[in-house]
Amino acid sequence: MATATQSIREIVTAEPSAAAILERFEIDLCSQADTRLERVCAELQLSVDQVLEKLADAELRARGATAPDLESYSLSRLIQHIVRTHHQTVRQELPRFAELSQRIAGKHGEMAPQYKEVATLIEQLRTELFAHIEKEEQVLFPYIVRLEEAAEDSSAEPYECPRSVEQSVSVMTRGHDSAGRIVGQIRQLTNGFEPPQWACPRNTAFHAGLEAFEKNLRQHIHLEDDLLFPRAIALENDIAQRR
Ligand SMILES: [Fe+2]
Ligand SMILES: [Fe+2]
Repeated sequence: MATATQSIREIVTAEPSAAAILERFEIDLCSQADTRLERVCAELQLSVDQVLEKLADAELRARGATAPDLESYSLSRLIQHIVRTHHQTVRQELPRFAELSQRIAGKHGEMAPQYKEVATLIEQLRTELFAHIEKEEQVLFPYIVRLEEAAEDSSAEPYECPRSVEQSVSVMTRGHDSAGRIVGQIRQLTNGFEPPQWACPRNTAFHAGLEAFEKNLRQHIHLEDDLLFPRAIALENDIAQRR
C-alpha cells in the first residue's frame, strides 16, 4: 500500500493504476516525480489521507478482482460482463492513451521517433474499436439476447436481424484480428511495453497501462471468439431447426 512518505515515482512504479488517481487530484507526475506524497499534498492543499484512501481503493480493485466463472453464465449475463468490463476499458483507456501518446511524441519524438508511430497506431485503434463495440452493442448483442429469450419462450420471435449471427460474427472476428495486429505493433515499437531509461513516472505508467490494456483486450477477444459467438451461432441454428 502507498504511504505518505513515498515519492510519486515510487508509488506509481509499485502500482501503475495509481497514476490515473494522482492525475485526478491534478498532481503532476513528471515535475513532482521525486517529491514525497505528503509534501505534494501540502503544496496543493490536498488531504493526504483522502489521496491515500483513493490509492488503496484502486490497488484493491487492481489486485482483488477474482475471475468469475464465465462459462456458466447465460449469454445475456456474459454480454453484460463484456460490456461492463471490456467495452468500458476501451472507452476509458483509449482516449487517455491517445492524449498521452501525443504528448510523449511531441516531447520526445526527436529522440525516440517510434512514439510518433505509437501515437498514430493508438488513434487507429481507437477509431476501429469504438466503431466495433458500437456495432456489437447496437446490433449484434441485442439480437443474441433476443435469441436467448426466444429459446426460453418458444412463442417469442427473435426480431429480424439484417444478418445471421454467423455473418455478423465473421465481420467482428476480422475486427478482432485487426485490433490484435495493431496492439502487437505497439508492443514491438515499445520494446514489449518496457519504458525507456529516461522515462518519467507518467511515461512509465503509460507503458504499464498499455500492457494492462493488451491483456484486457486479449481476454475480451477470447470471450467473444471462443465463448459468446460459438454459443450464439449454435443457439441460432438450434432455433432455426425447431421452427
Ligand atoms: Fe466486444
Ligand atoms: Fe468484439
